[in-house]
Amino acid sequence: MRLQGIAWALSLVALASAVPSRQRRSDLVVHERRAAEPLDWVRSRRLEPTAILPMRLGLAQSNLDKLEDMLMSVSHPLSPSYGKHFSPQDVVNTFAPSGETVARVTEWLVESGIAKERLRMSASKGWIAFNATVEEAEALIDAEYHVYTHESGAEQIGCQSYSVPESIRPHIELIKPSVHFLHRVPSPDQLQKRAFERPSTHIRTGPKTDGRKVTITPSLENCDETITLDCLRALYSIDHTPVSTDKNTFGILEFTPQAFLQSDLDMFFANFSPSQVGTKPILISIDGGVDQTDDQGFDTNGESDLDLQYAFGLTNPQPILLLQTGDLVEGASFNNWLDAVDGSFCTFEGGDDPTQDGIYPDPLPGGFKGPESCGILTPPFVVSASYGSDEASATRAYAARQCAEYGKLGLLGTTVLYSSGDDGVAGNGGVCLNANGQPARNGKRFNPDFPASCPFVTAVGATQVNPGSTVNDPEGACEQVIFSGGGFSNFFEIPDYQTAAVNSFLKNHPPPFTSAQFNNSGKARGFPDLSANGANYAVAVAGEFVLVFGTSCSAPVVGSMITLINDARLAAGKGPVGFINPAIYSEKFSSAFHDITTGGNKGCNTPGFTSTEGWDPVTGVGTPNFTALLPLFLELP
Ligand SMILES: *[C@@H]1O[C@H](CO)[C@@H](O)[C@H](O)[C@H]1NC(C)=O
Ligand SMILES: *[C@@H]1O[C@H](CO)[C@@H](O)[C@H](O)[C@H]1NC(C)=O
Ligand SMILES: *[C@@H]1O[C@H](CO)[C@@H](O)[C@H](O)[C@H]1NC(C)=O
Repeated sequence: MRLQGIAWALSLVALASAVPSRQRRSDLVVHERRAAEPLDWVRSRRLEPTAILPMRLGLAQSNLDKLEDMLMSVSHPLSPSYGKHFSPQDVVNTFAPSGETVARVTEWLVESGIAKERLRMSASKGWIAFNATVEEAEALIDAEYHVYTHESGAEQIGCQSYSVPESIRPHIELIKPSVHFLHRVPSPDQLQKRAFERPSTHIRTGPKTDGRKVTITPSLENCDETITLDCLRALYSIDHTPVSTDKNTFGILEFTPQAFLQSDLDMFFANFSPSQVGTKPILISIDGGVDQTDDQGFDTNGESDLDLQYAFGLTNPQPILLLQTGDLVEGASFNNWLDAVDGSFCTFEGGDDPTQDGIYPDPLPGGFKGPESCGILTPPFVVSASYGSDEASATRAYAARQCAEYGKLGLLGTTVLYSSGDDGVAGNGGVCLNANGQPARNGKRFNPDFPASCPFVTAVGATQVNPGSTVNDPEGACEQVIFSGGGFSNFFEIPDYQTAAVNSFLKNHPPPFTSAQFNNSGKARGFPDLSANGANYAVAVAGEFVLVFGTSCSAPVVGSMITLINDARLAAGKGPVGFINPAIYSEKFSSAFHDITTGGNKGCNTPGFTSTEGWDPVTGVGTPNFTALLPLFLELP
């Protein structure tokens, strides 16, 4: 392996003199660098110099520094422009890269030997794309592309760092493929080999089950053992029947191969909501998304069945949009659904994000042949997503670009809910970070979840009806099977709307940890924002009722409550609530939440944080009291 690496290096040196831009290296400064290699992946060889890379340059957007203020102005309950959401065209115009940025980057590429005819610009002007040989790309951005191999045989490519001229840095957010995982290996042979390694495998797919089968005894007496629709209605005082169903929209996001079974929905409805038997979600197929039924069982049906059964049950008779994202071969990731709801975010011709997302058209056998689903859907008023990944698995630039996109959805009037993770303060699968912020087996640093750590989404944590308690007793943080994901971002600064709440937590209830475990400066984004029950859900999966646990349960329940609130607002001639965080952290709204003050979110060989009075990084501001929340949102313009 080592010898092969040296051989490639030598042949590159020999070729170097043929590439004029090599001489310009002295101008270059590092733009992005990965601190360490990801766990389980071994750098196995240099990538062939003649292989073709689909290069994508994400141009610096205008006005991103004003995004938070703009979002606050349409979402803060005290703002005079509350509810005055942007149009999609306003969003494109506000954030499109400046003419100067486009000109400077183009000029740099042309001077470096990439002819202008080879460059293509996306419709939003957000991206410049071109195909380059590995040799050209390496010279252009002073990078070395390697193939990384997983013990499973899967392969991906990447470089450890890349550079651009100092004068170009302010004009570029990020370049792909580069330091971000996962890039596919650009040769047809190798593509086949990694077919099983879907880009979405780094995504957490909840929920969990303890394997027990359930005998349904619909009764409010047993909500500490089995959660049903009635338990949730009682816990959160949910009592609204939708009337504006033709105007309202509620989206449930699922990544293929996760899929629902109609027979499971009907089994659930027959037991808990008989009038809904036969009700189907409206399938929105994003990048080849299909509702597959070949592969059945908890691992493929658990998430979708759970989300749809509870969302349908709680919002009956609201139709539900199923945002089924990704084909069966390649899968997909967060940026793919963002492309679908915001054409301005797309690159073009499937040049989406070769790093962490499915790329369409998909060249693999049986893959979706496109075109990529770009701006095919008006963003639903609420989108619930029970998926996540470790923040540390992304780079800052990648996470920042995607996070800004959630902010834009907020400007458009969409509430984006993400579950906060099921491993407490640890990351996916219980992995923690080392002192460099990289995943490590014996890492001591807490490992926050993304997108939950993005300040422009609403992160939803999990609670439980404590054993022996009833729906009339206070809930605690979930400590059965899963622990509510929560903590502080290593990437994102604290947004204004939560500064007071987070600082009050840190000052009045200082956690017994140091800055070696989490960013305790009071300047980092804390999450989750709120929570809802996440333990013992009765869900029909693959023909039988099982008990399900996870923040995966919590997100669609909160999504359902916001959908009911939007319904009432639409009926009153108002718009949807959009980004809810500035409201739920405001003083006025605090009475509409049940503060959760017991339980913790253990992980990384610690008890984790502890739920306490006020906001905490386990259960956020608490669980909603729908009856109290509705009039507060109805009062707003
Ligand atoms: C890159 O090459 C692929 C395959 O030939 C082609 O489909 C695509 O349009 C090219 N992209 C650019 C930006 O030229
Ligand atoms: C903590 O977070 C803030 C805000 O993102 C950042 O400025 C600061 O450098 C972080 N501190 C450490 C020790 O990482
Ligand atoms: C929920 O809010 C309503 C209206 O403010 C109140 O009457 C009720 O007691 C609250 N429910 C609980 C369980 O606190």
